Amino acid sequence: MCGIVAYIGPKEAYPILVKGLKRLEYRGYDSAGVAVLNGALHVYKKAGKVSELENYTIGKDVSATIGIGHTRWATHGVPNDINAHPHLSNSGNLAIIHNGIIENYDSIKQELIKRGYQFHSDTDTEVLVNLIEEVRKQENATLEDAVRIALNEVVGAYAIVVIDRNNPNQLVAARKGSPMVIGIGENEFFVASDASPIIEYTKQVVYLDDQEYTVINRDGSFYIKTLGNVIKSHAIQKLEMSLEMIEKGGFEHFMLKEIFEQPKVIADAVRGRMNAQDGWIKLGGINEYLNKFANAKRIIFSACGTSWHSAMIGEYLIEDLARIPVEVEYASEFRYRNPIINEDDVIIAISQSGETADTLAAIEMAKERKAMIYGICNVIGSSIARASHAGSYTHAGPEIGVASTKAFTAQITILTLMALQLAQARGTISSSKLREILVELENIPAKIERALKLDEQIKEIAAIYKDSSNFLYLGRGYNFPVALEGALKLKEISYIHAEGYPAAEMKHGPIALIDENMPVVFLATNASAYEKIISNIQEVKARKGKVIAVVNEGDKHVRSLADHVIEVPATEEVLSPLVTIIPLQLLSYHIAIMRGCNVDQPRNLAKSVTVE
Ligand code: AGP
Repeated sequence: MCGIVAYIGPKEAYPILVKGLKRLEYRGYDSAGVAVLNGALHVYKKAGKVSELENYTIGKDVSATIGIGHTRWATHGVPNDINAHPHLSNSGNLAIIHNGIIENYDSIKQELIKRGYQFHSDTDTEVLVNLIEEVRKQENATLEDAVRIALNEVVGAYAIVVIDRNNPNQLVAARKGSPMVIGIGENEFFVASDASPIIEYTKQVVYLDDQEYTVINRDGSFYIKTLGNVIKSHAIQKLEMSLEMIEKGGFEHFMLKEIFEQPKVIADAVRGRMNAQDGWIKLGGINEYLNKFANAKRIIFSACGTSWHSAMIGEYLIEDLARIPVEVEYASEFRYRNPIINEDDVIIAISQSGETADTLAAIEMAKERKAMIYGICNVIGSSIARASHAGSYTHAGPEIGVASTKAFTAQITILTLMALQLAQARGTISSSKLREILVELENIPAKIERALKLDEQIKEIAAIYKDSSNFLYLGRGYNFPVALEGALKLKEISYIHAEGYPAAEMKHGPIALIDENMPVVFLATNASAYEKIISNIQEVKARKGKVIAVVNEGDKHVRSLADHVIEVPATEEVLSPLVTIIPLQLLSYHIAIMRGCNVDQPRNLAKSVTVE
């Protein structure tokens, strides 16, 4: 995701753009840039946060009353000055900002190169602005018509604003699949990814629908059309929310917003990477090294924290489905314990930030020992992504809350696709079973939506146990790493001591902890170990422990034993972590709020542990 902002009116544009970009930084902060038009078209752009851009423009000519700005979350091209937006057309006449992905950019780029266009960046956006320029030349078209014709040729998602050096009195903006809000002030207009850059200037807004564009003129006139060149009228709406709320998309905290983004995140993670009907999976990085993976003697995961829990699930998935031996290492241990690493080992680093120092150091060590490194990261162009020989991005969008939620489920989604692709390549899964799991994977976003509807019930349970001093989280099979993750979520945002354990392990000591003051969260959705988990619940109940059980919808047996039952939609066992983690994320969130904790920035923690 990126953030876009534009202004035309009587005020100085630059301060409005920069303040707006800072409010959009939660959408991405790899690089930032502005283009301002005051006779000349000045473009200033820098890798890093918006504050880097501000430092860079000190002393430069930024005085103008029309401009566009962008803060980037890289999709094509690493975060650097060249790939930062805005991008100029070859003539230097047009400047564009873009949030989204142009999927057919490469074919368009090749055609434009044949026509003599040159490209300076790796971005799809630079291709789009030159396509608009070429259309305008070929059709002798107005900017509006050139934008409309060009957008009818592209495939993908966009929210764009284009300005023309030769016409300082007009903005043209368009959207498809990426958000855009038009702010209508007193003889001034704003365009932005959401209302946060707009709300302090006006509460009058219009929302463009998909495949619509708007032409905004300095004289105060503006109109909206479809890409089919049909005029559309849109009611002017009044923003009710506070600025604070807007930045969180209407949620009280980034963590809650990110928990609720998960249905979309899973859908985004699989998009273009699988086809359930035809039974194919294409994880880019795996395709490139399929033989290396399929013939690997061993796969070693290296990660920290939540990403280490994802790796645990990855181990279960790959051994269960693809029958390749897997080991999971804490990166901080792996890097120092002088491990045996062979050339035919594949090392998979998992990291949301792509900057975790221990994980980065672990793969550098493994690279020295000639292992192949595969990275699963969320931040494009991050250090771990760049240090890997190949990899897959989770495309979960910026995760602002320190407690990782949507990145976790996105990582598991990638690992599921990886395990299935390797199983298919190694012939360890039947085509019918593969299709069955892929069809169910497509149903997961809807099942997460249903699990999210349990929020009120979970809040009630949180109120009962918010003052507990300890929690236990127990699970078996695929739900054991989920138990570990649930415990970590509670620990890191509510500061309650919590431990995750394999449910059967309780008899070997921890059951001594059970008494009437010990809440025990059981993940009891596994069909394969159901009777065993029932016995474990009975062992806890026999010692007066309080049982909160996560079960499949309709489960009656556990209901007769547990103190509280949270019913989630049943799914394939290999996919169950994607659903069973949801109530645990919500439980930790509500308990932390009730305890007055800072959910988004818990004490002692940082979003990315870039130090040892
Ligand atoms: C998880 O909620 C924590 N924020 C933390 O454990 C995190 O998962 C860990 O620091 C690893 O971060 P990474 O995925 O960015 O490497």
